[in-house]
Amino acid sequence: MKVYSIGLLLLMYTGLLSADNLQPDNNLGLPEILIPAHNPQSAEKIALGKKLFNDKRLSRDGTISCDSCHDQQRAFTDGQSVAVGIKQQTGFRNAPTVVNAAFYQTLFLDGRAASLEEQALGPFLNPIEHGLKASQQIVEIVKQDLQYQQQFAQVFNTADSVITVEQVAQAIASFERTLIAGNSAFDRYLFGRDRQALNASEARGMRLFRRKGNCANCHEISGKNALFMDNRFYNLGVGFDKVNSQIAEFVQALRAGRSADKFSFSDAQRAELGRFNVTHIIADIGKFKTPTLRNIALTAPYMHDGSVKTLEEVVEYYDKGGDKNPFLDSAIFPLHFTEQEKQDLVDFLKALTSAQYLLVIK
Ligand code: HEC
Ligand code: HEC
Repeated sequence: MKVYSIGLLLLMYTGLLSADNLQPDNNLGLPEILIPAHNPQSAEKIALGKKLFNDKRLSRDGTISCDSCHDQQRAFTDGQSVAVGIKQQTGFRNAPTVVNAAFYQTLFLDGRAASLEEQALGPFLNPIEHGLKASQQIVEIVKQDLQYQQQFAQVFNTADSVITVEQVAQAIASFERTLIAGNSAFDRYLFGRDRQALNASEARGMRLFRRKGNCANCHEISGKNALFMDNRFYNLGVGFDKVNSQIAEFVQALRAGRSADKFSFSDAQRAELGRFNVTHIIADIGKFKTPTLRNIALTAPYMHDGSVKTLEEVVEYYDKGGDKNPFLDSAIFPLHFTEQEKQDLVDFLKALTSAQYLLVIK
């Protein structure tokens, strides 16, 4: 049963508010969020996680925090092709959004972490991101701040005031589980049954997305909600030209029982092997996790290597059937879109921006 205060009841009675729009439903179009039993949410823990997420002291030279690459103004991405860490060093991957990552079964574009807790410590120790040497260093930095000491003691209820890296990871994960955003024009149209929410081009784009474009095959829309991802991994051919000429030789070496690590790939090339680096299964070569498309208008450039600058170019990439390679997924094939269809599809993708991020743009 919902409980309303007398004042609110009066407002509702006088017709100023209706029970339905007391609060915008940020979660419209999203499934229930599952909170792991070993890391329950609390307001204090979320506040602590937010502080850690934004704290530049937690890097080798005091210049990088999680939000350097996952900036709220850009729906928690950075606008760069590939992420830029300490001393302007660059990696090989585009920083994905953290919004709605709470729904993913695996984290990172190759799925190498199984939970937000497990993921959270990775960037601190990555030599080109935060660049810390050991996880104990995180604790040392945190311990120097009196406010942190009090917060950790309160949140984790520890009498001995021992702070652990696991607690740091738990607090960050709790904060990330609040970065939830549904309620886009698409959600109001499909799940809120507001037929005015999409214009004609956007609505045509939605049909193309689900039918002719075959997009929802991987960027899933179910009857009740839509994450626009499926927790699976596919080879689309993006960036694969870096390894394509050596791939036959590589596969032959693997089949002959040789170790993948011994093959003469550069680090940049190895990064293109994607999911294979985690599973060592030949069929996983060049596969990356299906990314969500929510708030996609804010998160350019696109793809795991940030090589595609605009949504128009993304649609062209799919229209031509991706870049050919022996591992290209069978669901990627030439689509023969008309110019109008391409425009409709782009318009639809731009209708996936959540209400709270529309405010950020304006
Ligand atoms: C230097 C830029 C940079 C910094 C700093 C950084 N990240 Fe990331 N983040 C990335 C990149 C790039 C990826 C994708 C890497 C990959 O998949 O190999 C990523 C991936 C992620 C993911 C997985 C998203 C998904 O789709 O699976 C999460 C969650 C995340 N980061 C959270 C954090 C947290 C928490 C911090 C701070 C402790 C942080 N990041 C610091 C660049 C950065
Ligand atoms: C076979 C599965 C599959 C199909 C079909 C598919 N996608 Fe994707 N999509 C992916 C994967 C996997 C990636 C990430 C690829 C990479 O980074 O190399 C991706 C990336 C994207 C991106 C960039 C996201 C980002 O954050 O960088 C957009 C936009 C996109 N797809 C839209 C579409 C549209 C539109 C269609 C239909 C025309 C479509 N996709 C069809 C799996 C698929």
